[in-house]
Amino acid sequence: MAIGEIFLGSFFQVLFDKLASMGVDYVQQEGISITLLHKCKGMLEIINAVLDDAEDKQLNGERLAKLWLDDVRDLAYDMEDLLDEVEIEATQAKSKAESSTSRGQVKRKFPFFSRPCSLVSKTKLQEITGKFEEILKKKALLSLKENVVDRSHYTNKRLPSTSLPEPQFFGREKEEAEILKLLTVEAKNANSPLSIVSIVGMGGVGKTALAQWLYNDARVSSCFERRAWVCVSDVFDVLDITKTILRSVTGEPCENKDLNELQVKLKDNLSRKKFLVVLDNVWKVKYGEWTSLLKPFEAGAKGSKIIITTRNNPIVSITRASPYPLKELSLDDCTSLLAHHALGARNFERHRALETIGKKIAEKCRGLPLAVKMLGGLLRNRENPDEWEAILNNKI
Ligand SMILES: Nc1ncnc2c1ncn2[C@@H]1O[C@H](COP(=O)(O)OP(=O)(O)OP(=O)(O)O)[C@@H](O)[C@H]1O
Ligand SMILES: [Mg+2]
Repeated sequence: MAIGEIFLGSFFQVLFDKLASMGVDYVQQEGISITLLHKCKGMLEIINAVLDDAEDKQLNGERLAKLWLDDVRDLAYDMEDLLDEVEIEATQAKSKAESSTSRGQVKRKFPFFSRPCSLVSKTKLQEITGKFEEILKKKALLSLKENVVDRSHYTNKRLPSTSLPEPQFFGREKEEAEILKLLTVEAKNANSPLSIVSIVGMGGVGKTALAQWLYNDARVSSCFERRAWVCVSDVFDVLDITKTILRSVTGEPCENKDLNELQVKLKDNLSRKKFLVVLDNVWKVKYGEWTSLLKPFEAGAKGSKIIITTRNNPIVSITRASPYPLKELSLDDCTSLLAHHALGARNFERHRALETIGKKIAEKCRGLPLAVKMLGGLLRNRENPDEWEAILNNKI
């Protein structure tokens, strides 16, 4: 099953959306070749069409397919960085144009706003096009087929997370104890009452589930006077995040307020209080957004904490968080998780005929509980070993 594809595929969708929203005027004006951008989009589409087959081959142990997918993943990240850079430049250019019409002075004051930055983008775009071409050449060698699987079966959109934990949570005792310590120990840095812990790991490894479990642990909740859970996802909207936190700590609606009113009120509510805020699934954040979000938190009491869950390491540097890398779930815990979702049991004790094959399926999920849960869902109430065999042999 195309587990990795789910993430790579949705990542590609983000790239397509960004490309679609990019201002053509700006791109042309800055000399970034629109033809090259279109070429990249075309190549992304070709790669996207064969992701399923590549994943299939990777799962069947084909090393070259794995290496190819690694290259595709790296390229997708490069492409995202480039699009971010272009987006930032476009915003800067817009504000520059606005202020230069009013004052006519900006160009001399901020010369770095213009050409050199765009040259970086141009060179990067050329590099990326080169990488694309390499990847397409290798694709030909792998004889990857297009659209071999109907993705709609398992690309159902994930729901936003809430603070409520999974009713059945498996393993993670060591991780829980370690993060618990980070949360309950007073911040060493006397200058700031606040410290930030970031649970970092690949998609579906269980970051959110662990944060939910900790958030509801009595040893954690008893430490904090105020708590808030925010599902951030792909857009880091300071106004929305502040609103959600304020609503959680006051229990009151706060619509129709601007950022200033919200921040002042939040600051008052957090003043000298020890609080815990979880920012779940942070995809990206710009430094300016981060510092803006933090302003009201400085009023809190010493020992206040923020937990961030993220797939992306750069978030750790921007937020200066203590990183907690979350590794794969153990095979035993994956097996129990599979039994839970497929059979409604904590283990295979009452289903011995499915035990060996169940373990093999769990193994195939490579420590990703999200994958286990999806396969468990497909096998729900199916006790015929042939059906389990079909899942194991990837024929879904
Ligand atoms: N230890 C666990 N016990 C039971 N279920 C788990 C465990 N870890 C994760 N899960 C389940 O697996 C699924 C994926 O986990 P989760 O959403 O926490 O992953 P994630 O690392 O936050 O992924 P993403 O990067 O996409 O946000 C969830 O439905 C979650 O409930
Ligand atoms: Mg998550």
